[in-house]
Amino acid sequence: MKTGSASIDIAADWIRNCSKLFVLTGAGVSKESGIPTFRDAQEGLWADYNAEDLATPEGFLKDPPLVWQWYDWRRKKVQDVQPNPGHFALTEIEQIVPNFTLVTQNVDGLHRRAGSQNLIEIHGSILLFKCFDRGHEQKEIAFDLKVPPHCQCGSMVRPSVVWFGEAIPEKALKQSYDAAENCDVVLVVGTSGLVHPAASLPFLAKRTGAKIIEVNPNKTELTEGCDLFLAGPSGEILPKIVAGLKSKV
Ligand code: OAD
Repeated sequence: MKTGSASIDIAADWIRNCSKLFVLTGAGVSKESGIPTFRDAQEGLWADYNAEDLATPEGFLKDPPLVWQWYDWRRKKVQDVQPNPGHFALTEIEQIVPNFTLVTQNVDGLHRRAGSQNLIEIHGSILLFKCFDRGHEQKEIAFDLKVPPHCQCGSMVRPSVVWFGEAIPEKALKQSYDAAENCDVVLVVGTSGLVHPAASLPFLAKRTGAKIIEVNPNKTELTEGCDLFLAGPSGEILPKIVAGLKSKV
């Protein structure tokens, strides 16, 4: 595996010459917007509670106000921040590469706000709501409610995100598999690679011959299987890749 600053040029070359680019992002891409990642020991989103309490159907049923207020806090935080240069760089790459799919595990909506078009939010969106029992979509929901509101059908309302133990919506999963299997370069950005099936997508692509580029300040579960590791924050590395792409267009 290659590392180091000359690798930015290699990454730009691979992306420039690829016919289909598949991008997978995780919480790290939003860190420079001011949103904590999940597993950061000090300030991570699970710092005071664990994922079972906050991000499972069982956790929600056990303590609906706790889960509701946690998501309300995150939705406010997301509203108060802006996409960062990493998000915008991915939007620019989409404009340069003819065939581009971005799969994000993030529920914060920042890729969409930065202008990404061919985007699959594989874990849903914190900005959308549905009812717990039947999945009825909900219109706008006010901030600062202390308990979940109810759907017309009587069920509690919940955020439209994928919790642990829940299946990824079939359409989003199929589109993600198709895009991964048909690409020739994968760019993996800011994910620990611990949550499947998202974390398996780069390796589906690798089975069909794709090269994998990883951008992350730290090595991850995925690094060993990657072809190129670009160490650093995505808000710095991705704009450099864009500059590399533009320098030879
Ligand atoms: P994690 O919190 O597990 O990992 C964040 C990754 O971002 C780590 O590998 C960090 O090294 C990296 N990172 C930190 N700062 C960065 C920066 N400035 N630029 C680039 N990378 C940076 O978050 P995810 O991998 O997204 O699922 O977590 C995957 C899923 O687990 C989430 O979608 C969520 C969570 O539980 C559900 O809620 C279902």
